[in-house]
Amino acid sequence: MNPPKVLYVCSEVFPLLKTGGLADVSAGLPPALSALGADVRLLLPAFPSVVAGVTPEGPSLLVPAGGTMGLPGGLGPLASSAPGPTPWLQLGRISASGQAVMLLQAPGLFDRPGNPYHDASGKPWADAADQFAWLGWAAALLGTGLDPAWHPDVVHGHDWHTGLAFAYLARLVAAGHRRPATVFTIHNLAYQGVFPVSVCHRLGLPDALFHVHGLEFHGQVSFMKAGLQYSDAITTVSPSYAREITGEEQGCGLDGVLRERRDRLHGILNGVDDAIWNPAGDALVQPGYSADDLRGKAAAKARLQQRMGLKAQPDALLFCVVSRLTEQKGLHLLPGVVDELVRRGGQLAVLGAGDPLIEQALQHAAQRHPGAVALHIGYDEALAHTVIAGSDVILVPSRFEPCGLTQLYGLRYGTLPLVRAVGGLADTVVDCSLENLDDGSASGFVFQDFDVASLMAALRRAFALRRRPADWQAVQRHAMALRFGWERAATDTLRVYQQARADATGTASA
Ligand code: ADP
Ligand code: GLC
Repeated sequence: MNPPKVLYVCSEVFPLLKTGGLADVSAGLPPALSALGADVRLLLPAFPSVVAGVTPEGPSLLVPAGGTMGLPGGLGPLASSAPGPTPWLQLGRISASGQAVMLLQAPGLFDRPGNPYHDASGKPWADAADQFAWLGWAAALLGTGLDPAWHPDVVHGHDWHTGLAFAYLARLVAAGHRRPATVFTIHNLAYQGVFPVSVCHRLGLPDALFHVHGLEFHGQVSFMKAGLQYSDAITTVSPSYAREITGEEQGCGLDGVLRERRDRLHGILNGVDDAIWNPAGDALVQPGYSADDLRGKAAAKARLQQRMGLKAQPDALLFCVVSRLTEQKGLHLLPGVVDELVRRGGQLAVLGAGDPLIEQALQHAAQRHPGAVALHIGYDEALAHTVIAGSDVILVPSRFEPCGLTQLYGLRYGTLPLVRAVGGLADTVVDCSLENLDDGSASGFVFQDFDVASLMAALRRAFALRRRPADWQAVQRHAMALRFGWERAATDTLRVYQQARADATGTASA
């Protein structure tokens, strides 16, 4: 089979727009696929910061509303501006990387400042269903041949924002249109895009799709479920998470669907972009450092302590968190261990934003322990590099974690990850047990049970290892030598594309 043309549909991409790891993946995986011969185009909503980072190139394409394609009800015209102008696709390239993109311009839908998913008070945008229905509709049209100059072999959508693409495609193909192969990736099953059934008519979703093997989810419409039901293949971002989501505990109500489609579900671990997360060449961490010469790491620690108002103590074991502060990340366990962490001579630097209750609890901890616990509430890409490089241990005590990237960044920077054994964290970090230390496989600290006592036990292991400097350095060197490159993920993803293409054309894959 020829290398595929891939329409890669997502809602955010680093460095133009990022709320989490999804953006890092949209920046890392497409070039790795291209390096293996694929011809990849990103399709993104034209959020303001995305538009600002793209150089337009070539013509634009109108995106007709659904009625003109023979879909019952049809999608549009745009609710916000009826009978408003027709949305269109602007072709171009990401100015910084040269990556080919198509931006979906839809007056009133994406041209607003701030977070792509919610308003300043944290409430989801009221027209989220319309925003991402249009993204899905544009993807479906491109998949069936809207651009005469470029027919994708594969439509690859990411997370619930792209789920409807697969339902629309199923309808268009059933009506006789061209059939691309389809792949849907789950980055986080907990965010599903569930809307009242009343949106169906407006979004051109016929009653025929509203059933238990279609879009229906407890009497509502689920965009995530559309992606799961109507794609040829499903991937998710680690092998462990692929297993976990077929069970009730982590299945978020969709484990039954995933069990039925188990033979089409693949766990492919995310990678790390070496051009951005590499302590030797990180422009935000100067002087750089490597496993052979860790002097730059000591300097990074001193800088971090100064920057965040921690006492300048080279020997204090410095723990950090760089995270969304949400229930998922398990950070409400932290207040329960902070006092003991400080009593043992440790320090804690937290960079994050999210749940006000977690923010408050951490703020109280910082007030109780000035100079030993510091908190920076907000989202700051440059500070994230400073914090990860300057710390000794990065804490990721997640309740669930599809892949997790910060523990991978920690490994690369010799900042040993302390993680709960779940999802991608379990797949990437090996505990410093005696036997793992002995055979050289240890790379961090891993705990099993989601409770304060288990987290505390792992913290005590970190303090214990620190008292054995030679062992600490051996683990650090091993961690820094591990490679989680995008090439492996791209190779596995191409294999999934190949199988999906074979399914789509009814031929056996080679
Ligand atoms: P998730 O996508 O669930 O938030 P990941 O570990 O996959 O978790 O990715 C998180 C990404 O967001 C990483 O690149 C991390 O460095 C970054 N990040 C998280 N919180 C912040 C913050 N407050 N400031 C800067 N970067 C952050
Ligand atoms: C999601 C997950 C995270 C994963 C990221 C990128 O945000 O929460 O675990 O690393 O997607 O796939």
